[in-house]
Amino acid sequence: MLRRLHPDQPQAFAFTPANQAWAEAQITKYPEGRQASAIIPLLWRAQEQEGWLTRPAIEHVSEMLGMAYIRGLEVATFYFMFQLQPVGSVAHIQICGTTTCMICGAEDLVSVCQEKIAKNPHELSADGKFSWEEVECLGACANAPMAQIGKDYYEDLTAERLVAMLDDLAAGKVPTPGSQSGRFAAEPASGLTSLKEYDSGKTQYNASVQLAVDIGDTIKRIDGTEVPLLAPWQGKTANKSAKPSAQKTSAKEQKTPAKKAEASAKSKPAANEPADKTGVTKQEAVAASKAKPPSKAEPKGVSAAVADAGKKPRTMKAPRKSGADDLKMIKGVGPKLATMLHDMGIFHFDQIAKWGAAEVAWADQNLKGFKGRVSRDTWVDQAQKLAAGEETAFSAKARTDGRYDSET
Ligand code: FES
Repeated sequence: MLRRLHPDQPQAFAFTPANQAWAEAQITKYPEGRQASAIIPLLWRAQEQEGWLTRPAIEHVSEMLGMAYIRGLEVATFYFMFQLQPVGSVAHIQICGTTTCMICGAEDLVSVCQEKIAKNPHELSADGKFSWEEVECLGACANAPMAQIGKDYYEDLTAERLVAMLDDLAAGKVPTPGSQSGRFAAEPASGLTSLKEYDSGKTQYNASVQLAVDIGDTIKRIDGTEVPLLAPWQGKTANKSAKPSAQKTSAKEQKTPAKKAEASAKSKPAANEPADKTGVTKQEAVAASKAKPPSKAEPKGVSAAVADAGKKPRTMKAPRKSGADDLKMIKGVGPKLATMLHDMGIFHFDQIAKWGAAEVAWADQNLKGFKGRVSRDTWVDQAQKLAAGEETAFSAKARTDGRYDSET
């Protein structure tokens, strides 16, 4: 199964303002240094916005998370849920072709798709409205055969029912999700044989179908025109009645430094904890620097807000006469980052060794494409050792092997 980027790509990608605010809020779920964990929800939202995942979208999300592009590409090409080519503008039909569904008629459903949409999976229909693919078990085997369309499951399908559904979709109607044979949920097709006292009778749909009917966004793209669920962990819940303009204000508000600092302070679930015991995070670096008396390079009274915003470290126009230190001896610094540091006026270990929280924050923000790298790889700790003439485990090995960090 080769998964390649589509040869025709758009020039650029940008989240809608509302989706941008949603994405930024998602990132606050994760501890400092672990923002890359937000890659799947952000890629997914980009796909929901555009219909498929474009290369500019993957790169945009990677940049937001301070990840090398190749890392974003790895995720996007690994998971089949990411569509790497354009899909139908109305619906992309995912037919389950695994054992139970196959035994119960999935091949008939595939034939319908081949006749009504396109001969091959991932091929657009002539009008560009539909596409289809066969997928592995979607976990609704008790209601086989089934298909996923957008966010919803259509179960107990027959070829005739799928034909009617495609006609409805083409006419702008959204078929009701759930069992298409009249089953309430996954009870026996011939009716309940036990627990009859729980026979719904009173409700038309099961909870899942009811929710899909209520929300009504089965095949609708999330383009930011609806108010999304921003960040429930921050006490901001979706307000269906809010107007888009109100949402725009909200997104704008989130970007003001004060609001950002406030949201940041409130929202990080592990704000005072390292992410785990195996990795040093920015929080750890910040905590370590706060525990120390302010160094000469760190003015007294650096507030948390200033540290958060960052402070440009002292730089030099050129290296000392003895020559620049080999910054690649710092784990996490490869040839590209070493050049970037030189361009910024950083040539020596002792310059980095003096960085406090504010300088680390500044460097983390300004090393484009390597956001968060300084704190993630504990450059300051390494630089302090190297400046003192000691070796780190990494530098000792790098000098022996002559190999630097790959910067990925
Ligand atoms: S086999 Fe089709 S949903 Fe499990």
